Amino acid sequence: MTKKYKIAVIPGDGTGPEVVAEGIKALDAVSGRFGFRLAYENCNLGGEHYKNTGELVDDTVLESLSRADAIYLGAIGHPDVKPGILEKGILLKLRFHFDQYINLRPVKLYEGVETPLKNKGPDDIDFVVVRENTEGLYTGAGGFHKKGTPDEVAIQESINTRKGVERCIRYAFEYCRKRNKRKKLTLCGKTNVLTYAFDLWERTFNDVAKEYPDIETDYANVDAICMWMVKNPEWFDVIVTDNMFGDIISDLAAIIQGGMGIAAGANINPSGVSMFEPIGGSAPKYTGKHVINPIAAILAAQIMLATIGEQKAAAMIEDAVKKVLRNDLKDVAAGKMGYTTEEVGNLVKEYIVNSE
Ligand code: IPM
Ligand code: MN
Repeated sequence: MTKKYKIAVIPGDGTGPEVVAEGIKALDAVSGRFGFRLAYENCNLGGEHYKNTGELVDDTVLESLSRADAIYLGAIGHPDVKPGILEKGILLKLRFHFDQYINLRPVKLYEGVETPLKNKGPDDIDFVVVRENTEGLYTGAGGFHKKGTPDEVAIQESINTRKGVERCIRYAFEYCRKRNKRKKLTLCGKTNVLTYAFDLWERTFNDVAKEYPDIETDYANVDAICMWMVKNPEWFDVIVTDNMFGDIISDLAAIIQGGMGIAAGANINPSGVSMFEPIGGSAPKYTGKHVINPIAAILAAQIMLATIGEQKAAAMIEDAVKKVLRNDLKDVAAGKMGYTTEEVGNLVKEYIVNSE
């Protein structure tokens, strides 16, 4: 029987719809070759929808998303909507609602892509950031006191639960073992100052490590990680960290792998509905210009297939992307590729159709 997956697609705002269309092109090209079917269901969410209807995400949308095998997201963000509303109301809402407790960010410098790091190449930049995605500073715990007065107090608390920290660390160990590269897991923390939160992280890390004698463990403070990531990116295999640090170091990592045209991420609930996205945002200034690089969205589709269990199809997408980056694109930045968004999608598709 043909395997069938239901994919909820949220094209979203700005250039989201343009890049998602190219991701779907790649998905359709591989699903045909590997004999599974993808049924897409479009879901109209984002800043444009919010401006027109006043709605962020309602319960019927959540219901319908919960029936999907995966969510494929373009971008959420609108220049006319105040920062925080769409992020909290849509993106974080979905992460929390579906308990997508892992934010997975593969960082790989592909051949043909330039890195801003001097004397570093594809052999040096190949690691993964595993970021906790439902706790820490992101829960919204805290508040104001005497807001708007000279005595104002603003508190934003970092919530770290043993359960939340442990499941994230365990995922990172498992991922490191399965990835089977250098088999080294680095905990990124700040044990010298955040002596409660990262004490819990460090103790949990050391406890779980006992179950993974085949994985080498390492620890570094987040500020040091930022230095090493620039100076010696080859030291890293898998890095595990909390929500806030993970947010920051994964953008640093994105830029050393070539930037927003390339970087893709996944919000994963290993036993629920996961969500896959290019991390570049809605890029309003490029909207409708057909210049944005769809490779990040195509790589998000690749991670999606690998996560739902279609590893061979995922590998075929990655191979096609590698060829496009090595043979065709002049540059990965928007407007400098030498091709339009659609043409890049077509190149990926061609390589898939013609692969062995
Ligand atoms: C990311 C983004 C989000 C985050 C924003 C848009 C809320 O930066 O996915 O990394 O901070 O998690
Ligand atoms: Mn971020």
